[in-house]
Order: sequence, then structure tokens, then C-alpha cells
Amino acid sequence: MTVIAHERFHPSEAVEFSEPAVVAGAGAAAITLSGLEKSFGANRVLRGINLHIPAGEFVAVIGKSGCGKSTLLRILMGLDEPTSGELHFEGADGAEIQPNARIVFQEPRLLPWLSVADNVVVGLGEGVEKKRAREEAKAVLYEVQLAEKAGEWPARLSGGQRQRVALARALVSKPGILALDEPLGALDALTRISMQQLLNRVWRELGCTTVLVTHDVSEAVHLADRVIVLEEGRIALDLAIPYPHPRRHGNPALAELEGRLLSAILGSDGGH
Ligand SMILES: Nc1ncnc2c1ncn2[C@@H]1O[C@H](COP(=O)(O)OP(=O)(O)OP(=O)(O)O)[C@@H](O)[C@H]1O
Ligand SMILES: [Mg+2]
Repeated sequence: MTVIAHERFHPSEAVEFSEPAVVAGAGAAAITLSGLEKSFGANRVLRGINLHIPAGEFVAVIGKSGCGKSTLLRILMGLDEPTSGELHFEGADGAEIQPNARIVFQEPRLLPWLSVADNVVVGLGEGVEKKRAREEAKAVLYEVQLAEKAGEWPARLSGGQRQRVALARALVSKPGILALDEPLGALDALTRISMQQLLNRVWRELGCTTVLVTHDVSEAVHLADRVIVLEEGRIALDLAIPYPHPRRHGNPALAELEGRLLSAILGSDGGH
């Protein structure tokens, strides 16, 4: 059986892996947060977050609305500054790096005047030769099963297809860190499940360190190696999900973990 330490501050402290739980990709970065705090005026949103995420791990962050999930993700992405505390990224050799980090939001945020392929090219940034950029965009569109839509306008796609384009735009530069802020939140239940399978597959192929914010506890336990519950600005629970990928829906062991997480989130005002 795989046993994974719940509170991991360094990969060497993780115990007894009987199978490789995490296969980190070449550019994957480890993330370490120490005493991280964030206040907006008198509102203390994050109140001392200590967290180590090994390179290549898939972590889900859940918690009530307003508990600071998006704030944490924005700080990880360098889109916002912490009020105090530290944030470090390490490459495979343990040296500090500035990782290539990409984020996908709930809304796809595509540029309506660019084709699907050109929207993906945007994710490569400046300085990539046009023909090569197009080829890379097509390859990643193939990965998200949208190769045939490369020349289409975003307005002519379904919601799930648009979100796959947004994912392709994030993946095209082969990020070391992928941040996902409720990326499947606006999709219907069936599209959501097929997108979960897609996310799981691309994560396993790319091996990037992935942080997924979600309201869906079932999604968290199906996709993540580890689920973190945020509550009142602190980590209330850090739960390992020690099952191989891809995971089946209807697995009773996952249902049990899901129940524990729901109780942790709902606590006294909703738990049984
Ligand atoms: N730019 C900002 N200025 C002031 N307050 C902010 C700002 N961004 C977030 N907050 C506050 O920080 C708190 C946490 O917000 P955040 O968006 O991180 O929550 P969340 O957990 O992502 O919620 P949800 O699940 O609803 O998306 C909220 O009280 C919010 O009002
Ligand atoms: Mg949010």
C-alpha cells in the first residue's frame, strides 16, 4: 500500500512509496510557502500558510467561498504580493528558480478577434517564430481534442470547448506550474467529468506541479494527490489521496475521503 505523509515540508520526509506517486516533468517546480500572510486593509485573508508542494504534485485547494483560495493562487502566480511571509520555487536540482507558471480561470478569457489556434499561440509569449508557434499550438490543440477547431472563431465554440482552448493556451509553453481557479466551475456535469479526465491525462503527461482551486470535493479527490482545506486563512486539513491515477468514479475509498473533506469544510454549521 502507498503511504504518504500528510504534512510534507520536504520530499525526503515522505515515507514508503511503493509506487511512484508523483512523476515530475522536466520544468516542474517545487513550491514552498512559509508563514504566508495576506491582508486587505483590516481583512486578514491568509493568516500564516506553511506549505511545501513537491515538484509534479497535483494539489487541490478547497474551502468556503471567500476563504482566500483565489488570493492564495494569485500570490503563487506572482499576480499579487503577500503582506508577509515567504514564497520559494525550486527546480529539479534544488536550486531556486523563477518558474514558468500559467493560470486558467473559470471564464476562458479568449480573444474574440483571434482564431482558436492564434489564441493558443498567445500562450507562447513573444519571440517564437510564427510557423513554429502555429505547429506547437496545433499539437496542444490535438492534446485537448480540438485539432479540428484550430481555424475556428472562439464565438463558434461551446463553453467546454472554449475552456479547452484556455487550457491549451496555458499548456503550450509547457509550464512548470499550472494554477487552475475553478476551471470547470461553469460547465455541465457531463462535460465536467470528461474535462476532469482530460486534466488528469495532460497533468500525467506534462508532469507539471498543479494547484487546482475547486468547490467540487469529488473533483478534488478524483484529481489530486493531496487536498488542502482552507479555513479562516489557515490550512485546516491537509489530506493525502493515495490512489493511483486515473481514478474511477464510484470508488468507495474516495467517497469516504470525500465525506471527511466535506465534514471538515462544513464543520459545525453543516456536518453530521
Ligand atoms: N483585491 C482585493 N481587494 C480587497 N479585498 C479582496 C481582494 N481580493 C480578495 N479580497 C477579499 O479576500 C477574501 C478572499 O477572497 P478570495 O477571492 O481569495 O476568496 P475565494 O476563497 O477564492 O472565494 P470564492 O470561492 O468565492 O471564489 C474575501 O473576503 C475578499 O473580499
Ligand atoms: Mg475564488
